[in-house]
Amino acid sequence: MALATDSRSASDSDVRPANPARTTLILAMTGASGSIFAVEMLRALESDERVSRVLLVVSPSALRVLAEETGVSGRNSLVERLLGSEPGASSGKITLLAHEDIGAPIASGSYPVDAMIVLPCSMGTLAGIAHGMAGNLIERAADVCLKERRRLVLCVRETPLNLIHLRNMVAVAEAGATVFPLIPTFYNHPQSVDDIARNYVHRVLQHIGLPQPGAYAWGVPPSAEDLT
Ligand SMILES: Cc1cc2nc3c(=O)[nH]c(=O)nc-3n(C[C@H](O)[C@H](O)[C@H](O)COP(=O)(O)O)c2cc1C
Repeated sequence: MALATDSRSASDSDVRPANPARTTLILAMTGASGSIFAVEMLRALESDERVSRVLLVVSPSALRVLAEETGVSGRNSLVERLLGSEPGASSGKITLLAHEDIGAPIASGSYPVDAMIVLPCSMGTLAGIAHGMAGNLIERAADVCLKERRRLVLCVRETPLNLIHLRNMVAVAEAGATVFPLIPTFYNHPQSVDDIARNYVHRVLQHIGLPQPGAYAWGVPPSAEDLT
C-alpha cells in the first residue's frame, strides 16, 4: 500500500492524503502536556476500519507525562490500558515500538507508511525533527516521512513560545510537515474535556484524509444519526 512518489516540492502544503482504503499510520507520543488527546487518537484509530496498522512510539518523557495526567504508568500492556480494553481484547493492529530502536521498520523509507502524527509534540522533539537529529525512533521516523514526502503532522504544545520554538515550527513547515497546534475549539460547544479532545482528533484525522463519522463541521447541520 506504498503510495507512488510525486514530483511536488517539500514546501507544498497539500502533501498527498493518506490512502483511505488500508492505511498504515505512525502515532508518536512525546512528553508535552495533552496525553488525553493521544489516548483519544489511539481509540479513534483502533475503531477506524480503514486503518489497518498503527505503529505506536512513546518517548520516556511521554510516559512520565501520561502517568501524571492519566494515572497510566509503565509500558506493560500499555496499548490495552490506553484503549481501556482487556489484555488480548483489542484488534491487534496497534504495535508498540521501542523509542530507542532505530532499527525498527519505520526507521527506513522502504517500509510503507501513509502518514505520521506526533501527538502531543514536545518542543524537544520539534527541535530534533526541525534539525534532522534522528537521535531516536520518533525523530528518525519523522525524518523519513519528510524525505519520502509523506504526511507528517506535529501536534505541538507549549506556551508561551520562545523564538527557538517558533523558528523550529517554520523549519518543519518549510520541510513539508503540518504544524497542528494542540489548541481546542469552542465554537462547536464542547460539553466535556473528552469532547474537546475528540473534536481535535477529528480535525487531525480529517487533515490526513480520514474524515470521522459524527465529526463537527461548521455550518453543516448534524445528521439525525449524530443526534441519537
Ligand atoms: C508534566 C510535564 C508536562 C510537560 N509539558 C510540556 C509541554 O507542554 N511542552 C513541552 O514542550 N514540554 C513539556 N514538558 C517537558 C518535556 O517532557 C521534556 O522537554 C522532554 O525532554 C521532552 O522529551 P521528548 O520530546 O523526547 O518526549 C513537560 C514535562 C512534564 C513532566
